[in-house]
Amino acid sequence: MSSTSRTAIVTGGGQGIGRAITLRLANEGYNVAIFDLKPELAEDTAAEARASGVTVKVYGLDVADEAAVNAAVADVEEKVGPVWVLVNNAGWDKPAMFLQTESDLWDKIIAINLRGPLNTHKAVCPHMVGRKGGRVINIASDAARVGTSTEAVYSACKGGVIAFTKSMARELARSNVLLNAVCPGPTNTPMMASVLGTGEDAVKWKDAMVRGIPLRRMGEPEDYAGIVAFLASDDAGFITGQTISVSGGMNMI
Ligand SMILES: NC(=O)c1ccc[n+]([C@@H]2O[C@H](COP(=O)([O-])OP(=O)(O)OC[C@H]3O[C@@H](n4cnc5c(N)ncnc54)[C@H](O)[C@@H]3O)[C@@H](O)[C@H]2O)c1
Repeated sequence: MSSTSRTAIVTGGGQGIGRAITLRLANEGYNVAIFDLKPELAEDTAAEARASGVTVKVYGLDVADEAAVNAAVADVEEKVGPVWVLVNNAGWDKPAMFLQTESDLWDKIIAINLRGPLNTHKAVCPHMVGRKGGRVINIASDAARVGTSTEAVYSACKGGVIAFTKSMARELARSNVLLNAVCPGPTNTPMMASVLGTGEDAVKWKDAMVRGIPLRRMGEPEDYAGIVAFLASDDAGFITGQTISVSGGMNMI
């Protein structure tokens, strides 16, 4: 099947890495449904993606809201097309030393980064199983593989996403539904800008990160679009349950 008749859901497709993934999949002929907390951002991405001649529909929702996710997935299946690929990219964090945080912050981080992907898998995968085919690409983080100071709960969620991806890959292989995780390293996105803040400290922190990256630069959103497009493609039909770091060689594990 060519991607021209395929549909993708990209969560958090409004900006950053999700935006680059949306534009790439649209360029490859996928119809795309963007699930994003900020529909106004997502509409900008959608307008650009539609220049590729595909259908792009925006759903303003919180991935942590199970009922909203269920309703949106039903709408996508009916109005955009049968979902071939689900990209769980929406993520959020507020960095702080763990011992200085309280449980309301943990709950929010867990709701978005872990519960959100559970909601989308539960809503989308039964359709894929019914059709005996589909792909899920979960955007995790190198933080899950090596840990990150000030991102303990976020890292735990991303580690959970990797373990969940592997377990689901085993459960759904018999249905030809393939799941893989992609781990970005530090990347120039609005999320990174808000984590870094501004001023001299931000420059120092950024320089320190770049020194730890063998390819000597931060990631750009476009660095992830190719691996996602590949994992969604027929060329990746024998790859499942894998975790792939795209981080300029920062962590060679
Ligand atoms: N930027 C990095 O350095 C980096 C590193 C490792 C992993 N990641 C991961 O990559 C993914 C994308 O990150 P980014 O840097 O592009 O982020 P970003 O903040 O720039 O963009 C995230 C997008 O997700 C949307 N979003 C956030 N919470 C949502 C929710 N609850 N429901 C629906 N949409 C929501 C936002 O509105 C936004 O459009 C995330 O999963 C993040 O954890 C990023």
